[in-house]
Amino acid sequence: MSKTNLAQKTKAQLINRILGKKKSAGETAVTTPAVRPASRSEVPETFTRFDRHPGYEKMLVTKAAASRLGVSNPFFRVHDGVAGATTRIEGREYINFSNYNYLGLAGHPAVGKAAKEAIDRYGTSASASRLVAGERPVQRELEEALAELYEVEDCVVFVSGHATNVSTIGYLFGPKDLVIHDSLVHNSILEGIKLSGAARRSFAHNDHQAVDDVLTEIRGQFERALIVVEGLYSMDGDIPNLPALIDIKRRHQVFLMVDEAHALGVLGETGRGVREHFGVAGKDVDIWMGTLSKTFAGCGGFIAGERALVENLKYAAPGFVYSVGMSPPLAAASLEALRIMLREPERVGRLRAHARQFLQQMHSIGINTGYAQGYAVVPAITGSSLKAAKLSNQLFEAGINVQPIIYPAVEEKAARLRFFLSALHNDREIDFTLKTLKRIVVA
Ligand SMILES: Cc1ncc(COP(=O)(O)O)c(C=O)c1O
Repeated sequence: MSKTNLAQKTKAQLINRILGKKKSAGETAVTTPAVRPASRSEVPETFTRFDRHPGYEKMLVTKAAASRLGVSNPFFRVHDGVAGATTRIEGREYINFSNYNYLGLAGHPAVGKAAKEAIDRYGTSASASRLVAGERPVQRELEEALAELYEVEDCVVFVSGHATNVSTIGYLFGPKDLVIHDSLVHNSILEGIKLSGAARRSFAHNDHQAVDDVLTEIRGQFERALIVVEGLYSMDGDIPNLPALIDIKRRHQVFLMVDEAHALGVLGETGRGVREHFGVAGKDVDIWMGTLSKTFAGCGGFIAGERALVENLKYAAPGFVYSVGMSPPLAAASLEALRIMLREPERVGRLRAHARQFLQQMHSIGINTGYAQGYAVVPAITGSSLKAAKLSNQLFEAGINVQPIIYPAVEEKAARLRFFLSALHNDREIDFTLKTLKRIVVA
C-alpha cells in the first residue's frame, strides 16, 4: 500500500469516527507504521516536517470534519475581563461554566491588591530557581499556610500544577516500584508515572476493592508502591472513598497520593478539601498534591506532607530544582485567596448549594450526569464528540459558555459538556441555563 493510500484511509477512519459511523468491513485499528530510516539519505519526508506529524494531521482531520458538519470551533475563545459566573467574549456577556474560579477569588480586589503589592516589592519574576536565586518571603508564607491547611509538616510549591505531578512522581519512583492509579486520573499523573519507569496498574474508577486485590496479588514484587487518586474527579465530579484507601495503604505498606486540584475550596465545610470532607488526619495521606490555578486564583502546584518528602523534592525534583521559583505576585495572590477562603466559609457553602441544585435540576430534565455527586463539577454526557460540540455551540448562541470535552480527552462514548459551578453564580443564571438546556435537548 502506498503512503498516500494509508494517509487517506486513516483520514477516512477518523472522519467516520467523528461522524459516529461504524467501521467498514476490513477496516482495522490504525497503527503507526514501524518505518525506520536505514540511512540518512533514506529518511522519509514525513519525518522531517512538522506539518506531517501524526498528531497534527489527526487534528486537521478533526477540524475539517467539524467544519464540514457546520460545527464552529469552540476552543480558544478570547475573553475580556475577569472570567467568573459571567464572562465577556467579543463584546457579548455570557453566563460562564468554563473556568475553575470556584469561590470567585480570581478577580477579588484583596487578591489583586496582594499581587500588586508583591510586584511593587519583589517585581514580577523570581528570575531563577529558588535554590540559586534564593527565597522571597511570600513563597515560604504560602507554603507554610498550605502545610497548616493540611496539618502536615511542610509544603513546596512548583510553578505548574501539571509539572508538580510529573516531577514528583517521576522523581520519587523508579523501575523497581509500582504505581496504581484510578482509571480517570489526570494526564499529569500518567505522565509522571511514565517518566518514573515504575510498573503501572490502573483500577476501575473508584473501585477500591480492586486496589486491595491487586496489592494482595503483586505488592511483594516491588520495592516502593504508590496509590494515586484525585480528591474530586475533574471530569466527573465524584470523590474517592478516602478512609477505605487509607486502610488499604496501611495494610499493604504503600504510599497514598491525593491530587486535590478540584477538591480544594469545594469539599469540606471550610473548603479544606477531601481530608476535611471525611475528617481524616493530614498524615493519613503521604502526598497531598494540589494546584493554585483553581480556587487559589493563581498558577502552580504544591506538594504537602512530611518534612523529609518536601526537603527531598526541594533539593532534587527536576521540576523544582531546574525551574524558576514561583513568581512573587502569584504566590501573594494564592496566599490571599487561601486566607479569604478560610475567613469566608459561606463562599464554600454557596458553591455547594449551587452545585446540588444544578445536579438535581439536570436530573429532573433527564440529562445523564455520569458519576457526578453535586460538587462543583457536573458533566452532561452526550455520548458523542459531535453532539457535545454542537450542544456547546447552541448554548453559546443562547449566551451560555460551557466547553465540550471530546475524544481523545475522554472516550468517544463519554464525550460531554462539563459545567464548572462557582460561588458567584446566582439562581437566575442557573435557572436560565437549565431552561435553555431543556429547550435544546428535549427539542
Ligand atoms: C486533577 C488535576 N491535576 C493537575 C492539574 C494540572 O494543574 P495546572 O492546570 O494548574 O497545571 C489539573 C488541571 O486542570 C487537574 O485537573
